[in-house]
Amino acid sequence: MPEPILQVRGLSAGYGAVRALHGVDLTVHPGTVHAVLGANGAGKTTLLRTVTGLERARAGSVLLRGEDVTRLPTERLARRGVAHVPEGGGVIAELTVEENLRLGALWRGRADRAAALREVCELFPPLAERLSRAAATLSGGERQMLAIGRALMGRPDVLLLDEPSLGLAPRVTARILALLRDLRARTGLTVVLVEQNARGALSIADHAFVLAQGAVAAEGSAAELLADDRVRHAYLGF
Ligand SMILES: Nc1ncnc2c1ncn2[C@@H]1O[C@H](COP(=O)(O)OP(=O)(O)O)[C@@H](O)[C@H]1O
Ligand SMILES: [Mg+2]
Repeated sequence: MPEPILQVRGLSAGYGAVRALHGVDLTVHPGTVHAVLGANGAGKTTLLRTVTGLERARAGSVLLRGEDVTRLPTERLARRGVAHVPEGGGVIAELTVEENLRLGALWRGRADRAAALREVCELFPPLAERLSRAAATLSGGERQMLAIGRALMGRPDVLLLDEPSLGLAPRVTARILALLRDLRARTGLTVVLVEQNARGALSIADHAFVLAQGAVAAEGSAAELLADDRVRHAYLGF
């Protein structure tokens, strides 16, 4: 087994008196898709935001390739290969598709940026056809593609995705999930996929864990969680 690319150890975070996350452990191996499941309010978004330094860790640590990055500012973590697609995508509606994409690679040289733009356009033909349109004109699925495309512009090793299927039709969700699976297969990208859509996420995940009230309630391979009736009924809703 190769060394984990991302490790979260005993991570706690919160908002004032609200303890949103307590003592969460997570180990992610390179080239895998790791699903983070759980109901609304379970702490999934807080977990990603604390990993990327957008929220302060109250306890615990985050290791990237074995190195402590717990207090690293978000943009420094991005330069080290960790990209975050926030809940809702965080696309800037007034900017064009191309301008949004370029925001994902501000720190890279001109040639790298051009190459990355070509790659993302190949990956997402609907974006390539709309580069000069305002992002506001995109459909929900195209916006999510744009959010993912922007994250990929920095050529990350680890992609953290917060509910990419939120508000999308099942057909569009299936397309986005298939795209992530292909991307992983093709590039060896590591994906941490936060989803309330447990069935969809488990269909492409290698490993998964379930958060409940800010703590890990169950974990295992995707096949193990799918085969566990107790976990499915209690936490996954199917
Ligand atoms: N900005 C905030 N201020 C106060 N409480 C928050 C804030 N964001 C989230 N919370 C609370 O933290 C807990 C975890 O929320 P969150 O991480 O958004 O869960 P999830 O993404 O799984 O739906 C919830 O109880 C939520 O109400
Ligand atoms: Mg959330």
